[in-house]
Amino acid sequence: MARPVKEFEVHPYVQFMMDKYSPYRKWIESEGIPIVSGSYVADVRTLELGDWKRRGGKGAYLSFSDQLVADGYVCEISAGESLEPQRQLYEEIVLVAEGQGATTIWYEGAPKRTFEWERGSLFAIPLNAWHQHFNASGTERARYMALTSAPVAFELYRDPDFIFNTNYIFKDRFDPADEEFFSKPGQYYTEYYGGILHSNFIADIRKINLVPREKRGKGTRNMYIHMAGSAMLAHVSQFPVGRYKKAHRHGPGAHVCMLDSTGYTLMWDEGEAPKKYDWHEGSVISPPAGTWHQHYNTGTEPCKFVALHANTAVQREEKGIEQIEFEDEDSALKKMYEEECAKSGVKVDMG
Ligand SMILES: [Fe+2]
Repeated sequence: MARPVKEFEVHPYVQFMMDKYSPYRKWIESEGIPIVSGSYVADVRTLELGDWKRRGGKGAYLSFSDQLVADGYVCEISAGESLEPQRQLYEEIVLVAEGQGATTIWYEGAPKRTFEWERGSLFAIPLNAWHQHFNASGTERARYMALTSAPVAFELYRDPDFIFNTNYIFKDRFDPADEEFFSKPGQYYTEYYGGILHSNFIADIRKINLVPREKRGKGTRNMYIHMAGSAMLAHVSQFPVGRYKKAHRHGPGAHVCMLDSTGYTLMWDEGEAPKKYDWHEGSVISPPAGTWHQHYNTGTEPCKFVALHANTAVQREEKGIEQIEFEDEDSALKKMYEEECAKSGVKVDMG
């Protein structure tokens, strides 16, 4: 007799299909580099990487939260080396974690455009554009973290040859005739709540302009970032010393990359006890879809992060995101924060 399937348990037939196909999972397993699962990596700068033959560097996949809409990877380019050129039918946003280098981007038969990057640089690879990354230092390695929509492409097409070897130019993503595509200054739209920045290359994400977004907590500042016509986007959030942001939850695909200060994030599913994830520069946290999460600054400087996300993580702004107001929060969480701040001699100041 067939065993009854409990709510939220994977049906045996679905499991059979997942095991049989799972094209994205099979692809990353075939790459021969480590795959980090869960929702968190403590530091992309010290994460253990493996030799990545296909790319010509070292790497590890960050396959967080089993959400199949966007996954990350960390890549290292040895001193004086470069990666193999690649083009791909999925989107990618790159955040440089350390080192200095350059990237050349082109469409088949069109002029090549090159820009230089360093720690804190943020850029997107225009859809299906050839790109090659170089380490500009002869002595220091370079590392970056990237978020891609590769899971979507692999689940849909199931064919690496098609994904990496299709010659099509997406004119609305990248104009090869535009010599200043990667060098022109970004365009700010600060009249929108939370702010919007259109830019194809940001030299240092820590230095962009931010606008107040106090719905998320007093003193919180923000900027949404759209790059190279991508559906995937990023946003920078900053909040003050001695404060934390309101708990919230949303759809899948957000990867929160911590840029400075120190602190922790609590994550919990409805009715369950929160789990604590400590962070500093280089930490990445990816809350699963629908999981409550809350970021706490315990350091002596304002906390800043850049979240890279699939568009599925974004809520309709007029409805606002689902969040827990400070007056409704669990008082034990505030007490925990006061104790954590006391350890680093920081005075709690929730305004
Ligand atoms: Fe979030």
